Parts: sequence; structure tokens; C-alpha cells
Amino acid sequence: MRYILTLAFLVIYAASAAQAQRSIGFVPYAVPEAGDIVVPVREGNPAAGVVAEVNTRTGGALASAIDDAGYKGEAGEVLTLFGLRPYKRIDLIGVGAEPLLQRDLQDFGGRAAAANDGGRDISILWAQIPTAVEAAAAHIAFGFTLGDYRFDQYQQKDADEPATRGDLTIATAAADASAAAYEDDLSHLATAVLLARDLVTEPGNIVYPQSFVERVRSAFRGVRDVSIDVLDVAAMRRLDMGLLLGVGQGSQRPPRLLVVRYGGGQRDAAPLVFVGKGVTFDTGGISIKPSKNMSYMKADMSGAAAVTATVLALAKRKAPVNAVAVAALAENMPSGSAIRPGDVVASMSGKTVEILNTDAEGRLILADAVHYAQDRFQPRLLVDIATLTGSAARALGAEYAALFTRDDDLAAQVTRAGAIAGEDVWRLPLHPNHDKRLESDIADIKNVSPEPPGASIGAAFIGAFVRQEQPWVHLDIAGVAWRTDTVPTVPKGFSGWSVRLLDQLVRQLDDAGAAQ
Ligand code: BES
Ligand code: MN
Ligand code: ZN
Repeated sequence: MRYILTLAFLVIYAASAAQAQRSIGFVPYAVPEAGDIVVPVREGNPAAGVVAEVNTRTGGALASAIDDAGYKGEAGEVLTLFGLRPYKRIDLIGVGAEPLLQRDLQDFGGRAAAANDGGRDISILWAQIPTAVEAAAAHIAFGFTLGDYRFDQYQQKDADEPATRGDLTIATAAADASAAAYEDDLSHLATAVLLARDLVTEPGNIVYPQSFVERVRSAFRGVRDVSIDVLDVAAMRRLDMGLLLGVGQGSQRPPRLLVVRYGGGQRDAAPLVFVGKGVTFDTGGISIKPSKNMSYMKADMSGAAAVTATVLALAKRKAPVNAVAVAALAENMPSGSAIRPGDVVASMSGKTVEILNTDAEGRLILADAVHYAQDRFQPRLLVDIATLTGSAARALGAEYAALFTRDDDLAAQVTRAGAIAGEDVWRLPLHPNHDKRLESDIADIKNVSPEPPGASIGAAFIGAFVRQEQPWVHLDIAGVAWRTDTVPTVPKGFSGWSVRLLDQLVRQLDDAGAAQ
């Protein structure tokens, strides 16, 4: 009976739409007789725990190998051993000496994925490692799926490449609880992160405003309690969204405002609203960028990808909350119809903007989007997410996103969510003098100020369109949207950053949560 139950938890998960699938299963803890195994190792006493059991099976060879290699089991320390019979391959993954947090478990899973890239099945043996996290193996599976991410649909396959990738089995005492936690909850979050990564990694000739909308529609097909509205140019004109229209007017590919609503909370409860910058390619416009590294600007829709993917995760895991994603989608191109430096354009709010630099376009589209979001939804919380400034990236690099808010409690709340989720934020200031620097000679506000601090000035511009009493957070993810190195849960490339953070923030704030 037990066996049948466990089999029922074997589900196929696709790490990305385009790649070969792996199934992930959870079985009651037992040391397998053979095959490829992954073994967690505690620092301080590396020959104890699961290692000791496996060592016995290898007739003492494993302990000798650990000894000879000087392997200690420090957090993240990996030792791969071949040919210790009866096993083909043993990956030792160090977990350090401290109890593991959620993000440590996820990192462990990511490391297991990185170490096992091939077509063979693997088993992770999870026992005797201290952690207070429930259903720990579900977090390992989650981290594994994120670390396993590849984007290879544009590459021809080698003939010798295995047609399928190996399956993962996690042997753990809490197999049923972990399977349920993964299947009902974390697998959906993983799907969302991978959707965001796919959307961002796709080049600008494939993902542009309308195709972004279509991809999102297909990702949400069959998902309950969701409704999707798309504003086209005519609809935006009726609403006087001069800024989003203005940024989009230089492109052959017209802008869109995509709104995805999920109603999982109480009927009349005000929603959490997430607004994302969706510049599907940012050339800078007439204030054109240098050509070096311009290709990265296909990722300038990372905020839009993150907010829509987050709502997908919430809807799929049936979070008890009302939430909305607003994606402001435009392509910033130089052309005969593009906005010019110096143009004055009226925003939806009525404020006029002197656009002195057409490369500061993210704040323009977000100004209309946050105004629309407040006007239409009266959000309980408004979060905007954007690859807004090179300044944020230079200040904080790839380890922290820049957080801006007028509210200290919200700053603490978001910082905590980031720390739990494994997507850290660092707060940067909003200062009244930043607002002064945006005073225009001929309009209500200008979009740039020549001096630093660029990230704060960008935040101040968006803030000018956010009502004082509106709880509001701005996240500048320019530095974290992609990485040039690999970390356990984020392979080098486009990270899908913010989905995990926002999902965690919702867990802290949802209708079932205590912290309100
Ligand atoms: N999309 C860019 C910001 C960016 C730069 C994101 C590097 C990721 C990596 C944004 O639209 C932009 O061009 N910002 C300008 C603003 C400036 C003109 C005030 C910048 O940061 O240089
Ligand atoms: Mn720009
Ligand atoms: Zn941009």
C-alpha cells in the first residue's frame, strides 16, 4: 500500500517548455543498492550520518576516499567519486555545520542538479541533516529544478546526447508530505520562475509586446480564478496613457498593457498589485545606447516577466489572496516616429513630462502603469519592478536588488521576504532633494537629472506618480536580472529574479497570514 501511494507522487515536471523532462519522485528513506547517489555531508564529522550507511555498503571505501581527499563537508563543498562499488557515482555535497534554512535546502538541490547533468537516474539520500524547515525535500526538489534550468531550443542536438534526462528520486522520511508540498505548491513556483526565465531569455525578435501577451495567455490556459485584459493602442489612447504610447511609438511593434487578475482571496479584499517594466528591447531610442552589450537589453522586460509569472504561481498554488500583475509592454526604438529628446508628453495622471533622455524610458511607462494600477485597483500594496538603472546594478551587483519605499515597516517586510526566498534586497534612499532635481523648466516634471544617484532619481520619478498614502515599493532589478556566473539555483544567464521574493512576500501578507 505504502509503495502504491508513493508511486502516485511520481510526477513529470518540465524544467522548461523546450527541454527534455525529468520526473521527480519522493520515496521513503532507504539507501539504494546501486546507481548514482547524492549524499549530504555535515561539516565536522563527515563520516557520520548517511555517509556512514553508504560507507558500509562500499566496504569502507567511501570513508577512505573522504579521508584521502581531505573532504570536510563545508557548505557547498562537492566531491564526486566514481567506481566505489556497488555505486557508479557518489556525489558528496557539503551542508556545513549549522541547521539548514529554506534557501540552504534549495541551494543543496541546485548543487545536486549541477553535479548531475547527464542522462542517468539519480537518488538524493536525505536524512539526519538538522533543519527546522517542514517538507525539506520539497525545497530540495525546488532548488534542483531551478538549478537544472537550460534554454536550448535554438541549438541543434548532438546525436550522442541522451534523448531524456535522468529521473530524480529523493529518499526521505517525510516522503508523502514532501511530495504533497512539491506537487501542490513549490512545483508551481518553479514553473513560474522558469516561465520568467524563458520569457527573458527569448530574444527581442521573438518576444515583443503582442507575443509576450500571447505567451502569457497560453501559460495561464486552464488556470482558475484568473482573468486577463489587454489594452491595445486604441484603449491606451482612450485612457490618455501618453507615456506608454510615447515610448512605444518608435517601434513597428505596438505597445500593450497586460493585466492579469487572480482572485483567490475574499471577494472585496483590495488586491496586491505588481507592476512590471516590460521593455521588450531597449535601444535607448533616439538617445541611443552604445552597441557594446546592447543585446542584454532584450532582458529589459524582466520586471514584466516577473510580475506575470508571480501571479501564475499564486493562481496555480491557489494562494488565498487577490493579486494583479500589470505589465507595461513596449519596444524602445529610434525611428522617424520615435519620441525626441526634449519632447513634452502628457501622462495618464495629467502630469506633463519633459523627456530629456529617451533612454530613461522605463520610468515613463511605469508612471502610466502605476497610475493606472492605483486608479483601477486601489491596491493594498503596490510593488513595481524594473530593470530601471545601470546605477543600481553598479551599486549592488548581482547579489542584491535595490529596494525603495517610503515605509520602514514595508522595507523590513520585503527584506525579510528576500532573505527567506533567497533573493536579497538592499534598501537605497528616497530623498526630497531627488524630487527637486526632477523639476522641469517647461513641464511638470522631467525624466532625468544629470547627476547621481541615478537609481534614486529613477525611483523618485516613479514616486511622483504614486499617491503619498499608497503603500508602495519599487525594486530596481537591473543588477540581478541576469548573472555572468552560476550560483546553485540560478545558472549563468537570465534569472527570473523577483518571482521567489514576491511569492514569499505574498505568503507573509495573504489572507491566511498573520502579519498584516
Ligand atoms: N534598461 C536600462 C537600465 C539598465 C542598464 C538595465 C543596464 C540593465 C542593465 C534603462 O532603460 C536605462 O537605459 N537607464 C539609463 C537611465 C539614464 C538615461 C538616466 C541608465 O541607467 O543609464
Ligand atoms: Mn533605457
Ligand atoms: Zn530600459
